Amino acid sequence: MARLDVTEIFHGISYPGHLHTQDSLHHALKFPFQDTDVLIVSYPKSVGTTWMQEIVTLISSRGDPHLSQSSPNWTRAPWLEQYYCADLLKSSTSTPRVLTTHLPHDLLGPALQESKGQIIYVSRNPKDVLVSFYHFHKMANFLPDPGSFPEFLHQFLEGTLHFGSWFDHIKGWTSQAAALNLLHVTYEEMSKDLRGTINRVSSFLQRPLLEHELNNCVKHCSFSCMKDNKMINYSLIPDEILDHSKGCFMRKGEIGDWKNMFTGEQNRYFDTVFKSKMQDCILKFVWEKP
Ligand code: A3P
Repeated sequence: MARLDVTEIFHGISYPGHLHTQDSLHHALKFPFQDTDVLIVSYPKSVGTTWMQEIVTLISSRGDPHLSQSSPNWTRAPWLEQYYCADLLKSSTSTPRVLTTHLPHDLLGPALQESKGQIIYVSRNPKDVLVSFYHFHKMANFLPDPGSFPEFLHQFLEGTLHFGSWFDHIKGWTSQAAALNLLHVTYEEMSKDLRGTINRVSSFLQRPLLEHELNNCVKHCSFSCMKDNKMINYSLIPDEILDHSKGCFMRKGEIGDWKNMFTGEQNRYFDTVFKSKMQDCILKFVWEKP
């Protein structure tokens, strides 16, 4: 199937052109945030996007799956920078508004300066992000051909893939955590303790859940439930955009899949670049612990 592969370059970062326009990207930078907004932020394939969208939807509905099973994730938690967002929000009455973004902090920070909105930043071991992103490129016709895995790995480390540098993204957002109303959650803790994570997110959102509501959230946010829910598993997207014969959006959902892809040499290369690019970051992440 032919690739759509139209690219928008904005502030030196490339974005898929079938969803992003110069106007929509400019609009995001001037977005009038409200203090009640919930903003989910992630670098692609860090799971912030779909898993956290589902968690926040279910917390807001107190564990009732009706909305998450009847409305696609991109309408209930639209990406701020994508072209359809402005129109969608005009007709939306939901409170709180739940928004999603992949934009880096240095672009979105100014719009957030005056806001007391709640921000949930989700990160994941970048080696797993890279592998997930590589597989996603193969099925996503709106992204460039990923080429070979070594080429893709090099581009990831150089920060030249669509959506820019993973290193800049995580450093930019986490370094501003104290200034923003920001909760940082990792994919690893979501995987190891989904119940505890949902509790943490519901406390942050000041929406405490009763025991049975929490049980429902845990059930409907599980990998198997989400894989079967067409409102979140991207099976609604036509084949010319996401080629479902080449893979599945809800692919493996595992920690450490990178070990099946990386050679020893690629791992050493990655670690060297990671060390050098993250030397100015004081945080130590869960995946860095032995
Ligand atoms: P894999 O490709 O490693 O399986 P994003 O939503 O940021 O695009 O990330 C997609 C990744 O999150 C995919 O990773 C997908 O399987 C994983 N994922 C989504 N929902 C999940 C869940 N409920 N449990 C575990 N992993 C999940």
